Amino acid sequence: MSERPRRLSRRTLLASGAAGAAGLAVGAAGASAVGKDPDSQDLGRSTVPFRGAHQAGVTTAPQTHATFVAFDLRDDVDADGLRRLLRIWTDDIERLMSGRPGLTDTEPELASRPDRLTVTVGVGAKVVEVAGAEVPGWLGPLPEFVIDRLESRWSGGDLILQVCSDDELSVSHAVRVLTKEARTFVAVRWVQRGFRGPVKGPDLPRNLMGQVDGTAAPAASEHDRLVWVGDGSRQLFGAQPAWLEGGTTMVVRRIAMDLDTWDELDRPSRERTIGRRLKDGRPLTGGSITDDPDLEARDSNGLEVIDPFAHVRRARTEDRTQQFLRRPYNYDDPPASGDLTNAGLVFVTFQADVDRQFIPIQARLAELDLLNQWTTPIGSAVFAILPGTGAGGFLGEALFS
Ligand code: HEM
Repeated sequence: MSERPRRLSRRTLLASGAAGAAGLAVGAAGASAVGKDPDSQDLGRSTVPFRGAHQAGVTTAPQTHATFVAFDLRDDVDADGLRRLLRIWTDDIERLMSGRPGLTDTEPELASRPDRLTVTVGVGAKVVEVAGAEVPGWLGPLPEFVIDRLESRWSGGDLILQVCSDDELSVSHAVRVLTKEARTFVAVRWVQRGFRGPVKGPDLPRNLMGQVDGTAAPAASEHDRLVWVGDGSRQLFGAQPAWLEGGTTMVVRRIAMDLDTWDELDRPSRERTIGRRLKDGRPLTGGSITDDPDLEARDSNGLEVIDPFAHVRRARTEDRTQQFLRRPYNYDDPPASGDLTNAGLVFVTFQADVDRQFIPIQARLAELDLLNQWTTPIGSAVFAILPGTGAGGFLGEALFS
């Protein structure tokens, strides 16, 4: 860790331009040193690349821990301040994701095991406005749905950091470094923490209702059309502002589960609510876990095998552009006095177009979905996930051009 400059204000470094160059040179060396370690997986040293056309943490196989931090931009921050903040975050995120401490890290040892750390940065309308760029119409609160019981303490925000890793310590440390660096520019608005099962191994990722969750997803070959903003999505949904090219959109819904009344339901009724088996996540109409449920299938009495109001039936339409990438995390927080549980999902989706992909499906589910009896959306926020950045660039650079 000897490369870490001591007692140098990071603002001075960044203003002089030295940090960018030094950071990049060290970055390449640091990353390759980590990569050469034959036991890197076991030691928690594995890394996800930071630089590229897209940010990491969207199509990255979900890590087991996540913290979502939403911030309000302070009123006195102008375009120059915003640019400084985005440069600072870019530099520190690159360092942390490669297993190196932040530039002014006071706990540098905590950076050495990133364990697939990713930090993904998103912005809200105020940030785009302050930067002087075009604010797209969808970048604001979602329309109100009848099922919503939204609380302001879980909703909105001008900026978001999604911090994920297979090691909770790595998440905590990255959040601490990045929040501390940003404190003169932003104030924390809300924090949501989540966890989920590993993506590898025999156990399937489950939510706290016991269901295998996150099975149906757009194929990787569809990401350029359905997830990333670019030529592919433009053909389907029309143009987005140029600064979002290579980015995506993010919806964060905090959905409370009533596990105590869910407990009262027998197993067949639970499976009927979703339309998939609890044991292994297979559709009730058979086939493998990756097969689509057969929505036409009928039983010997002529009744639909997948209930007309089952979650999986309501969550899909024949218009297959209405799909999105779900990257949900469970939460299990201390209950309020007198309650037994305070659990649910930090339900996160990424899609090229909020209006054309997410909203129609959420509206269908709000109208009718057996699951609604046990779930309640209590938080909601929408962000534009900035495009990735190449060598020498910083996140959000295109906002200022
Ligand atoms: C606490 C709330 C929720 C729970 C427990 C839940 C659970 C599930 C489960 C178990 C599945 C089947 C397995 C899978 O494909 O992942 C599923 C599928 C799905 N859910 Fe949810 N879900 C919730 C909320 C939502 C919301 C709010 C949306 C959309 C706005 C949504 C959209 C979908 C979609 C699109 C599918 C895939 C349907 C398909 O194509 O087969 N879910 N969900």
